[in-house]
Amino acid sequence: MAKRTIVSMPGDGIGKVVLPEAVRVLDAAGFEAEFVHADIGWEFWVSEGNPLPERTIDLLAEHKIGLFGAITSKPKDKAAEELAPELRGKGFVYFSPIVGLRQRFNLDVSIRPCRSFKGNPLNFIRRRADGGFEEPPVDAVIFRQNTEGLYGGVEWTNPPDDVYAALNTHPKFKSFADTPREDLAVSTRIFTRNACRRIGRAAFEYAKKFGYKSVTICEKPNVIRETSGMLTAEVKRVGADYPGIDVWETNIDAQMMWLTKNPEDYGVIVAGNMFGDIVSDGFAGLVGGLGFACSANIGDELAVFEPTHGSAPKYERLDPPIVNPIAMILSACMMLDHLGETDRAERIRRCVAAVIEEGKVRAYDMLKLKGGPDVIAKGAATTAQMTDAIIEKL
Ligand code: NAI
Ligand code: MG
Repeated sequence: MAKRTIVSMPGDGIGKVVLPEAVRVLDAAGFEAEFVHADIGWEFWVSEGNPLPERTIDLLAEHKIGLFGAITSKPKDKAAEELAPELRGKGFVYFSPIVGLRQRFNLDVSIRPCRSFKGNPLNFIRRRADGGFEEPPVDAVIFRQNTEGLYGGVEWTNPPDDVYAALNTHPKFKSFADTPREDLAVSTRIFTRNACRRIGRAAFEYAKKFGYKSVTICEKPNVIRETSGMLTAEVKRVGADYPGIDVWETNIDAQMMWLTKNPEDYGVIVAGNMFGDIVSDGFAGLVGGLGFACSANIGDELAVFEPTHGSAPKYERLDPPIVNPIAMILSACMMLDHLGETDRAERIRRCVAAVIEEGKVRAYDMLKLKGGPDVIAKGAATTAQMTDAIIEKL
């Protein structure tokens, strides 16, 4: 078989630490591919005024598969301050390059599996009435619409005349009529029917393929009637094609409460961009947190796989690094699944599970320590040792 080319985008901070660890695991599992490096992140904002250079876009357009670490984003004023002096005042505006990638390539389906591993001290436990506790296995897979809604970027402070005029045509806008325009901030939540159908279809197909009994639509259509309403209606319509799979509806706020009550009842969950972001972090917290949370961004032609954590600047300079590489390794497994290498992905996941269950090698988060240089003396494995243990199993 011809060697595949994977576009490797470590990005910033601990992205640079964990991505090479995942590549080591892929290598050890016999995955044959060429990895081409691509520039992305803060460094390129500072030096070029563009955190997502065109050359990176070109590489992705050519090779179609990306493995991404993490990037650093900073607020508006910080971004302007750190821009190279010769670029200042030239109209460069910072944007998150990962959000940019999702939008540029219409990677509209985000998949975020949250599964507990046996023996992980970070697993969710629930206290019983008799004072004991139980540890129900959580296995939820969140399908998050990845390009629209509140993260769509259509927003203003002090909206321009035409926008302000349009807002004034809405009867409910009357309650803002006395607010000076410069004191108004507006972020839109735009949903399209097509994107709602696509995320719904992806979710039901996944549920069918992997035998999940239910698909839960997690939105808030009782209040956000238009957008949540459209997503709910479209996903239900898609669901009619899958008679064996139950369709449940929950509101995002209640869902967050149920996380601590009965998280094991949920299988596949579908949500818009922001609620999907929230509910997936919520579930990730039940199965180990950011050190375990993996994700895929999938479009028609292209896919990018990444841990959901960020660049964790607190830890980027620690030597040796201590962050948990498992989220990144599980993201690489999702890439293998996508490439049809499910057996290899399963083998790696089994080895990850075995290392966790044995409990001999644990990253600092699994020991519930506060991160810092002293965690190694307290028995935590370094990032590399964690990876080594997984490779040894392979
Ligand atoms: P973060 O995810 O980088 O870190 C938050 C905390 O989670 C860390 O301090 C650490 O305690 C823990 N953590 C994260 N990854 C871990 C790992 N692999 N192992 C063990 N513990 C881990 O989020 P934060 O601090 O809010 O943001 C830092 C920077 O990352 C910001 O500039 C933010 O914009 C960016 N970011 C980027 C994302 C991306 O690239 N997709 C996603 C989230 C944040
Ligand atoms: Mg998030």
